[in-house]
Amino acid sequence: MKTFTTRENLSEYLEQLRGEGKTIGFVPTMGALHQGHLSLLALARQHTDKVVCSIFVNPTQFNDPKDLDKYPRPIASDTEKLLLAGCDVLFNPGVNEMYARNEHWHLEIGELEHLLEGKFRPGHYQGVTQVVYKLFDIVKPDIAFFGQKDYQQFLIIQKMVDMLHLPVKLVMCPILREADGLAMSSRNIHLSADDRQHALVLSKTLNWLKPNFDTNSIPILVRKCEEMIKAEPGVDLEYFEIADGDNLRPANQNTKNIVALVAAKVGKTRLIDNVSLQ
Ligand code: PAF
Repeated sequence: MKTFTTRENLSEYLEQLRGEGKTIGFVPTMGALHQGHLSLLALARQHTDKVVCSIFVNPTQFNDPKDLDKYPRPIASDTEKLLLAGCDVLFNPGVNEMYARNEHWHLEIGELEHLLEGKFRPGHYQGVTQVVYKLFDIVKPDIAFFGQKDYQQFLIIQKMVDMLHLPVKLVMCPILREADGLAMSSRNIHLSADDRQHALVLSKTLNWLKPNFDTNSIPILVRKCEEMIKAEPGVDLEYFEIADGDNLRPANQNTKNIVALVAAKVGKTRLIDNVSLQ
């Protein structure tokens, strides 16, 4: 595996690969890699000739400086995992390599930016689009792979790609779960043993919803799910929504593509999860 820390050296190397006719798959991450990330890499390997993974904890997408400070950065074990996963290229730049001082970015994403996650993390998606745009510009991938766990992020990046006519195909990969149902996340390592148990209410609620989806109206189901989550000690519900999977507006009986999304603080750790109800 080749490792690059500068855009220039990475671009030069990838240019060479493209010249040899190789297709490039890209898995952007913030590190603290788990099986979910590795499943993205496995898919990238199936679909493209060379796989690039970036590890960059992007400061502009954190609206809470404490969250940024405590974000895990286990680069040695991440590198080991990438080697074992057969990743071809790691891009691991520093903040100065990615950002000039006082850089301005605003992309008019519309309503999608302010719903659900956007309400609780103002500015988050401006930071995400800013860094993903830069990464796409450097890597110029044929296909980029993202996890379904950040469902709203996927929709927003797809919107950016469409709006700016970026020449990249996006693939959304299924959520990977621990044996007890907890969605895999880099943040799970912050959960205490008690938090870890309480956190299961999120996946349990989504699992309950799936077979019960046709039995009640959407408002009643939302209320029941909210009650289930609020009844769990140590869990502070931020939102539970049954939404149109194309635009994340609340779903109604005519909606075709339906997704249930949840966010909650479990102890001090913020978790998200979702399930498709199609
Ligand atoms: O999903 C993530 O890990 C991040 O939001 C991403 C896409 C790597 C941008 O920093």
